[in-house]
Amino acid sequence: MAKVLICVAWPYANSPIHLGHVAGSLLPPDLFSRYRRLRGDEVLMISGSDQHGTPITVRAEIEKVTPLDVAERYHEINKKAIEDLNIEFSLFTKTHTDNHFHVVSDVFLDLLEKGFLYEKVTQQYFCPNCAKFLPDRYVEGICPMCESGHARGDQCEQCGKTFEGGELTDARCVHCLTIPELRETKHHFIRLSAFQEELIDWVKDKQYWRPSVQLFTQNWLEAGLEDRPITRDMEWGIPVPLPDQEGKVIYVWFDAVIGYLSASIEWAKMSGDPDAWKEYWTDPKIRSYYFLGKDNIPFHTIIWPAILLGRGGLNLPYDVPANEFLTFRGDKVSKSRGTTIDIPSLLKKFEPDIIRYYVAANMPENKDADFSWDDFEAKINNELVATLGNYYHRVLSFTYKNFGEVPKLIDATEEKDEILQAIRKTRKSVEEAMDNCHFKRALKAIMDLAQFGNRHFDSTAPWALIKKDRERCGSALHMHLMLVKALAVLSSPYLPTSSEKVWKFLGQDSTIQQSGWSAIDSDLPYHQRLNESKPLFSKIEIEEDENDSMYAGFETLNLKVGRIIEANDHPNADSLLLLDVDIGKKIQVVAGLKEYYSKEEMEGLNVVVVSNLKPARIRGERSEGMLLAADADDIVRLVSPPADSKPGEPVNSGMNQSDRTVEFKDFQKLILRVAEVSKEGLDIGRLIKASNPVEDGSKRVIVYMPSKDAEEALVLATERGPVTVDESLPGGATVR
Ligand code: MF3
Ligand code: ZN
Repeated sequence: MAKVLICVAWPYANSPIHLGHVAGSLLPPDLFSRYRRLRGDEVLMISGSDQHGTPITVRAEIEKVTPLDVAERYHEINKKAIEDLNIEFSLFTKTHTDNHFHVVSDVFLDLLEKGFLYEKVTQQYFCPNCAKFLPDRYVEGICPMCESGHARGDQCEQCGKTFEGGELTDARCVHCLTIPELRETKHHFIRLSAFQEELIDWVKDKQYWRPSVQLFTQNWLEAGLEDRPITRDMEWGIPVPLPDQEGKVIYVWFDAVIGYLSASIEWAKMSGDPDAWKEYWTDPKIRSYYFLGKDNIPFHTIIWPAILLGRGGLNLPYDVPANEFLTFRGDKVSKSRGTTIDIPSLLKKFEPDIIRYYVAANMPENKDADFSWDDFEAKINNELVATLGNYYHRVLSFTYKNFGEVPKLIDATEEKDEILQAIRKTRKSVEEAMDNCHFKRALKAIMDLAQFGNRHFDSTAPWALIKKDRERCGSALHMHLMLVKALAVLSSPYLPTSSEKVWKFLGQDSTIQQSGWSAIDSDLPYHQRLNESKPLFSKIEIEEDENDSMYAGFETLNLKVGRIIEANDHPNADSLLLLDVDIGKKIQVVAGLKEYYSKEEMEGLNVVVVSNLKPARIRGERSEGMLLAADADDIVRLVSPPADSKPGEPVNSGMNQSDRTVEFKDFQKLILRVAEVSKEGLDIGRLIKASNPVEDGSKRVIVYMPSKDAEEALVLATERGPVTVDESLPGGATVR
């Protein structure tokens, strides 16, 4: 028996957890811990809500509530969602607790005293318009490394690169889009440089880490560690535990990683032995595993180990099995809108085992994995229901009906050896995979065994055999019951609820958990009464909104009502205008409309703006959006949102609220057309159908066509009515 410490990345308490969290960091440790406990090991598994930092304050500003409100509300929501998914923590706590404040402050002061922290004046982003510093998520810009348009002040989520003040390209204040200045401010830095050699030494024998984790860490170490500020100019968070530090709090990442330690201490206090945590952190034989998504790697293989080295006497991570991302049409699932894949909503529709199965079968262990409802449906129906569930039910119900108990095994039959061998072989591969945190691979081996069972059952054909030789048939079924039992134990980390049900059908009186891993190939007592079985899983049907897939291209856009505030000549190009447009915030747009509109005509005009085009520089001026205009021969007219529209109002809300930037060339591939409204339908040069109603008597509307020859198109509209254009434009005219 061994002990093991399982640390799980703390989800931010700023939104409900979604499939991405489950696939990236939450389910793998639960599989691992259930497996280890079945094998008789003692597990301490901890995590909690990450409640500080700009992820929380930004959310609070959007919701117009306090950061504490956001942090506590989502903590409760997520704690419950995690429990409901049957993910079992020894403790799932949060960072806004006295205990955590104390532990973090202790570590801070200890490192300070040892000279690993020092104060230094540094340049940080400051918004002159909002008159405040812009830590972390308050700044967005283009990542100088991977060119993602959504890099934050401290890190690019896309490629994982972390930044210091001033490193982003085209940085903007997220509130007002003002270009921030760099201002001097004093902060505490962690002397990462002091740990460079020790860390290089430490990673040397980590050949067993996943290649991506090794590579990422090596790159960081090779680039040379730079000291980093670990305090911020903001109010929400753990105050710097020193005098004269008003307005400064500890950086959320320094705070959160210490949560692993503080949560262990909290758990020990609660368990009645306040020292119980020490063993897990100081006994060099006890391994610690850290489960997280790939964007968290540097904080766990560099920063946290450095803090631990500075503190001294505590174990460094043994393994950091980071997962890649679960994506949705190529986007991180967290970004997808209009698809309810947050866990509380999913749990309303599906049993936890269904969700667990899908996530494990599609786990992004070595590369990003894409989520789709089709795939979800296929994996559940073809694998879980048709293979595993079907096998369980065939064996259990046939045996129950015909014998009512575990039939007698006749020694020296062919199937006895075959089935036992298959079980032992699978057990071995599952152990090897699980020991190395390859959960998808282990599940595959289990499903292969179920498939083997199905084939074997077919070839035994017990329904025929029972008529010829009841005793032989019983003996074959005995072996199939053994196989059912093996499958139940092997899959119980993945499917805890249904596995225990199978256990009951088999007539076992303990639970799988109590019986342990060795129950995989233990004997089944002859005469043991069976219980009547019911199908374990049933087929699911996803009511996929047809529009959902049909209008996928359209969903990459973020269209908004805009109002032109000011129009000026472009300083470097005669044919271009510089427009200030209010889309709920102010943006600058470079437009080629000078031939068609005067500046006076434009000012005050309501327009429709593609607000998520990748910002571009056009003849030296920044352009952050595009106005939709229809164009036929020599006529170009801007399209108009309904009367009374307000800047910032969404067009086709819910369908196209992507917050990912779209490249101009991808936008160009989308087909937008003017359509003439008639009784027969929409005329775009030919008649098509509208998939949403146009009721208000408009003559010319704008449609999105899923393809050139589509029979049906989507009418652009806000809540107030359709987007229209001047009647001088014929149906079929292009919009761009
Ligand atoms: N809250 C972070 C995220 O969601 C993860 C924090 S992990 C911890 O990306 F180590 F800091 F706890
Ligand atoms: Zn600002």
